[in-house]
Amino acid sequence: MSLLLEVLVILLRRRFLKSALYFASKLDSGSNSSPSIMKSSELRKKFLDFFKKNRHIITPSSPLLPSDSTVLFTTAGMQQFSQYLAGEKDPLKDFKTRHLTDCQKCFRSDDIEEVGDDTHNTFFEMLGNWSIGQDEKGNYFKQGAIKYALEFLINELKLDKNRFYITIFRGDKEISRDNESEKIWQKYDISKERIKEFGEEDNLWGPVGEVGVCGPNSEIHYDRGKEFGCGRKDCGPNCPYCKRIVEIWNLVFIQYYKDENGNFQKLSQKSVDTGMGFERVLAILENKPSAYETDLFLPIIQEIEKLCSKKYEENKKTFRIIADHIRGSVFLISEGFFPSNVEQGYVLRRILRRAIRYGKIIEAKPGFLIPLANKTIEIYKNIYPEVFSKQADILTVIQKEEEKFEKTLEKGLKEFKAQSSKLKVQNHNLKLKTISGKVAFNLYQSFGFPLEMTKEMAKGEGLEVDEREFQEELKKHQEISRAGKEKKFGGGGKFSPKLHTATHLLHGALREILGQKVKQMGSDITSERLRFDFSFERKLSSEELKKVEDLVNKKIKEDLEIKQEEMSLRQALNSGSLAFFKEKYPKKVTVYSINSFSKEICAGPHVKRTGELGKFKIIKEESSSSGIRRIKAILEK
Ligand code: SER
Repeated sequence: MSLLLEVLVILLRRRFLKSALYFASKLDSGSNSSPSIMKSSELRKKFLDFFKKNRHIITPSSPLLPSDSTVLFTTAGMQQFSQYLAGEKDPLKDFKTRHLTDCQKCFRSDDIEEVGDDTHNTFFEMLGNWSIGQDEKGNYFKQGAIKYALEFLINELKLDKNRFYITIFRGDKEISRDNESEKIWQKYDISKERIKEFGEEDNLWGPVGEVGVCGPNSEIHYDRGKEFGCGRKDCGPNCPYCKRIVEIWNLVFIQYYKDENGNFQKLSQKSVDTGMGFERVLAILENKPSAYETDLFLPIIQEIEKLCSKKYEENKKTFRIIADHIRGSVFLISEGFFPSNVEQGYVLRRILRRAIRYGKIIEAKPGFLIPLANKTIEIYKNIYPEVFSKQADILTVIQKEEEKFEKTLEKGLKEFKAQSSKLKVQNHNLKLKTISGKVAFNLYQSFGFPLEMTKEMAKGEGLEVDEREFQEELKKHQEISRAGKEKKFGGGGKFSPKLHTATHLLHGALREILGQKVKQMGSDITSERLRFDFSFERKLSSEELKKVEDLVNKKIKEDLEIKQEEMSLRQALNSGSLAFFKEKYPKKVTVYSINSFSKEICAGPHVKRTGELGKFKIIKEESSSSGIRRIKAILEK
């Protein structure tokens, strides 16, 4: 190293040390202070105010339905900023700051079976702060992110620093160990013994989905105390045996883009993406074992106690599952999702039906979900007004799903019991400890039991489900119904490409008039008419139907070209093409688009130009099933 360079490094180090020490002196000691008891709304406000004071722009929560259609839900605060983090978009170029903060609604369906413990929820809120790109406008990276996190937790929330554990990335073949973060934490007075290193599973965050921005992360964990622990000597952050030490804040240092081949490509900019578990921090601040005992859940828990003769203390897990699932359902429905057998609708159906089944365990009376939904709406109406404005829809969807499931639940449970008892009697033969896929499929098909629910019930009885056979049965069933449909289309050209193109125009028009939540749920085309099923919660007014009809006819008049392109499924989804049953598409797909009005993955055939269609006329609008409407339409010459 040249002398000049060495001097420069020494000076920079000194400067860094000086600013770290200066900041350390600004931190409260953090050991004698006790966390202030705090209501949820106060915590949200405190967080956003803190970052606003530090020149961050407060951004509203984005919806639970992410703009990136390769994933089902928004699971992290950064999703709405992923293109900024990748450097693909720069909407902040005219702003004085490139710092953002938000409180984001999130939903994680992967965690459904963990719900009931102290730390997992399906729906939850994530507090976060971001610094996009590092080079200008006072942006920050590791040093700034760590400084803000400590300042907020210690000075604002008065958490005891001596209860913190820190995790950092251990490094691997491609990405080196995060020595820099380790040094910064130590400079801020976190002792070396409290800093633990982990591999990529814990400390290399992202991407959301298969490709996207990611980077090494450093997490703050909080020791809740001996009473929550496993008592093992080596108990620490990420302990596999207990939840004594919980992760509360994840600081991600975004530097890479993971591509389709799994390679980490260095981004041209470095950014900070942090996420703090709102529910977890609130429970710590209120000195409660979990969020279920805080103002976010307690009114729901108390309502459940009123609706059955059981007590929360003796039935914690069941109460928590019901409370979590009703909250998740309220938020999903408020955004226009409906229970169904595909994608997000299937997740919604699963949690609603799971809540109903758990309701049986504590002998809650049918209809018990409605007062619980009302409580949830009360808790959140001032923070997320959509739960209040959609109250009628939320209650209707829940009530209908409950009624539907109640009709078959008892019979299904009886059937399950009969099957499991049979297996148990015969259990001298080990193979018979598995519930066959055929039985599980029958429970799904005839009684509306989601596969996961049957699996969970089986587990409770020490049994397993033959999932592969279940999937085979499901496939067989789908093939039979598809064959039925094809038969209708077949018979030498009965299927009308004109009506097929009109169906795409109708889909586009419905989404434009009623909102982007409208999704195709089914389609049937004959030589005479089209029939289109779509998710929507209520009857359409005659004005709405007229608007839809007029818009389709306008597009026909414009004589637009129907463009056909081949591309990978990923490209198609990324370009915003609508997909029906995403998982059933091959890797290469055909996309049909009618300028920017309609873009769908589809096997065709279609006409060449919309001008060929004639006049579009809706002849009927009716309910197809709960939350699904049906339109029948024709083309007149
Ligand atoms: N993206 C990170 C997470 O989801 C931090 O926001 O944990």
